Amino acid sequence: MADKDNTPQNKWWKSAVIYQIYPRSFADSNQDGIGDLQGIISKLDYLENLGIDAIWLSPVCKSPQDDNGYDISDYQDIDPMFGSLQDMETLIAEAQKHHIRIIMDLVLNHSSDEHPWFQEAKKSRENPYHDYYVWRDGQEGVLPNDMGAAFGGSAWEWTPEVQQYYFHQFSVKQPDLNWENPKLRREIYDMILWWMEKGVGGFRLDVIDQIAKEPDRKITGNGPRLHEYLRELSRETFQKGNLVTVGETWGATTELAKLYSHPDNSELSMVFQFEHICLDQMAGKEKWDLAPLPFLKLKEVLERWQTQLCGKGWNSLFWNNHDLPRIVSRWGNDGEYWAESAKMLAILLHGMQGTPYIYQGEELGMTNIQYEIQDYRDIETLNVFKERLERGISKEEIMRSIHAKSRDNARTPMQWNDEENAGFTEGKPWIKVNPNYTKINAAKQVRDENSIFCCYQKLIRLRKEYSVFVDGIFHMLCRENESIFAYTREDENFQLLVLCNFYDSTVNNPLEKPDTSAKLIISNYQDTEWNTFLRPYEARMYIKDKRTSSMSE
Ligand code: GLC
Ligand code: CA
Repeated sequence: MADKDNTPQNKWWKSAVIYQIYPRSFADSNQDGIGDLQGIISKLDYLENLGIDAIWLSPVCKSPQDDNGYDISDYQDIDPMFGSLQDMETLIAEAQKHHIRIIMDLVLNHSSDEHPWFQEAKKSRENPYHDYYVWRDGQEGVLPNDMGAAFGGSAWEWTPEVQQYYFHQFSVKQPDLNWENPKLRREIYDMILWWMEKGVGGFRLDVIDQIAKEPDRKITGNGPRLHEYLRELSRETFQKGNLVTVGETWGATTELAKLYSHPDNSELSMVFQFEHICLDQMAGKEKWDLAPLPFLKLKEVLERWQTQLCGKGWNSLFWNNHDLPRIVSRWGNDGEYWAESAKMLAILLHGMQGTPYIYQGEELGMTNIQYEIQDYRDIETLNVFKERLERGISKEEIMRSIHAKSRDNARTPMQWNDEENAGFTEGKPWIKVNPNYTKINAAKQVRDENSIFCCYQKLIRLRKEYSVFVDGIFHMLCRENESIFAYTREDENFQLLVLCNFYDSTVNNPLEKPDTSAKLIISNYQDTEWNTFLRPYEARMYIKDKRTSSMSE
């Protein structure tokens, strides 16, 4: 464990930018059509050039891949599809040479049903591993209750050997682990310490707010013992090294996030909250029930997270991950204003307080995909298609939802160049490449200083250059404006101004021209004169050094 300085002064992740890799779709080194660890190693130069500080790797542990690795059958080995443990060690070491830390994905809410623990657990009620999972007595065909699983169907599955049901919040192949069992918790901690010894820089904790479930009371998220478990977990593991930890918490409110990410480090560094990212769906319904984005609400939500966590916790900043559609297609414009809108969304997000996450391909403005149903691979997508057809919803309507929200939008192969299969593989890719790779690809963008890639690269550099990105207090401007997203950040030395037109028409610029001491540090149009209007998706970021200029506004 390299870095034991765990003092508040050494929170390296506050000024870091983290890049998420979905390994199976990133780069394929052995031409079997599936991305792998050697593939990632071969792209470290690219990532160092982008400027990121750490890579969050979606799961690479041994897994039957029912949910693309979020169903782990051995926490201490690498799935052969991705390489070997040795490859993982090489990746950690090589990344370090590129000043990049490796963050692993910890899936602790459930394991695979093929994990030896579960294989033992289902043998008999007396088996020492039985209690590692969540079982309820019952009769075949009479479910313990009506709880549903996230990927469809009941959350209960009958096991004839023990004449009991086991609980699974996700697929039947993802039985929930029983955190009430102290022996299970200890095994988990030892496993984490083992990875820490290998030199990983941190962990992303999959659906961590669901570990303290109480199915008898139909509690899944935020169970009564959740924070007790998290403190124990942190004390026994993370606090022994200076790691970054980020919890996936779909149910987080700002109040809860202050507990999770308390500056005393007693739980996690930060969490992913999803309040902003769930706004374009019908209230009380599922993500597939599409609704337009309520822009004023988006502003209200982001402002609330910025102000409430300031000094009391820490935000993560993201538009994308492997479960979400591509932001440029979702809230930007993947047609006429593709580049402008992708850059605007980047500038808007990266000016805020928190640790930004970039999802692979986001830095190129990769877009959503529209496959026929047989080309989808994601278990959730395939299940919702079946389920909604059975409910009598038309195929057209279901496909509209899937095109907008399927997780496979994020999982198409990384677009490296304009060669066959976008340079991702010379084999047959496990999922079809987005045909727009001839236009949208890394090779083209790294050599174009006006590219989306270079915009991200510059934003990352700016974050390192000015303290105000880390410490500055957030202040929302033009709160009622229906198309402008504007804010300032201010610390002792600097004032930052971010001004964005969120839509595709030209609008009045509501702000006064900044005084001449304010410097334009990034924008998304070539001619940079201040105007009384903002062009489609126009975004500008100004900085003023308060030490060298008067503060007249
Ligand atoms: C998280 C992951 C998702 C996975 C689920 C179950 O939401 O991000 O990909 O399917 O947990 O592990
Ligand atoms: Ca491969």
